[in-house]
Amino acid sequence: MKVLRNVEDALEFTNGNYQKTVGLVPTMGYLHAGHKSLIDEARKNNDIVIVSIFVNPTQFGPNEDYDAYPRDEKRDFKLCEDAGVDAVFTPDAKEFYKNHKTYVTIEDLKDNLCGKTRPIHFRGVLTVLTKLFHIFRPTNAYFGRKDAQQYLIVKKAVEDLNFGINIIPVPIKREDDGLAISSRNVYLSDEERKAAPILNKALEKGKSSIKKGMKAEDLIKIIKDEIETEKLADIEYVQVVDTKEIKDVDVIDRDVLVALAVRFGNTRLIDNFFYEV
Ligand code: PAF
Repeated sequence: MKVLRNVEDALEFTNGNYQKTVGLVPTMGYLHAGHKSLIDEARKNNDIVIVSIFVNPTQFGPNEDYDAYPRDEKRDFKLCEDAGVDAVFTPDAKEFYKNHKTYVTIEDLKDNLCGKTRPIHFRGVLTVLTKLFHIFRPTNAYFGRKDAQQYLIVKKAVEDLNFGINIIPVPIKREDDGLAISSRNVYLSDEERKAAPILNKALEKGKSSIKKGMKAEDLIKIIKDEIETEKLADIEYVQVVDTKEIKDVDVIDRDVLVALAVRFGNTRLIDNFFYEV
């Protein structure tokens, strides 16, 4: 497995892959079973698999956890090597964004859900992905459905800007007790960790209640009521949005994303499910 630490090395690697299918798995490292499932999917369907490991500063707000974000390069490299990855790209942030002036943003879709409290987040995500897509020119790029808004935004931006890359969504990976696997789960105290599976429980309740023609507010109430049985859970949002514009729907009469963000102490967790009418 090659370790690429700067853009120059990455471009040299890319030039050697002419006419091969390339699968890119963009990550921020601290890899877990969720990332592994993206890598496995990429490994099945591409000649070359590249994993980027980069805690991207431009997608973190000033009071967010950029510095605290967990990092473990040695363990990440081992997971990649064992999963048959051909190259990891892990650039230095200062060098990667040297005198950077150009950003990629999307209208409307960034404004709802997580965008309400993280206004610059998706601009940072689209900017780093644009750089990665230009450097590696992948055939396929893999994204977890846990970051549902990110997946929908990336899919739309890639379509709008004619990147010519297939954006492949991969199902959410969960712990045995239902908690969606996330690098941020390590922030939870023992007590918070015990409380956090309420999110999946609430979404499961929502899934078994959702019906075409149902009022979104009734579904939201079912989910919120369940979450509120857990004292440590502090709800940021539970919303039902359409999957094209990411706008709230009144009635479930089209394909929707049911998404939530909930805080346990200082840790903000997200989870969701998609429903097709
Ligand atoms: O989902 C993530 O880990 C990040 O947002 C991504 C896609 C790697 C961009 O930095």
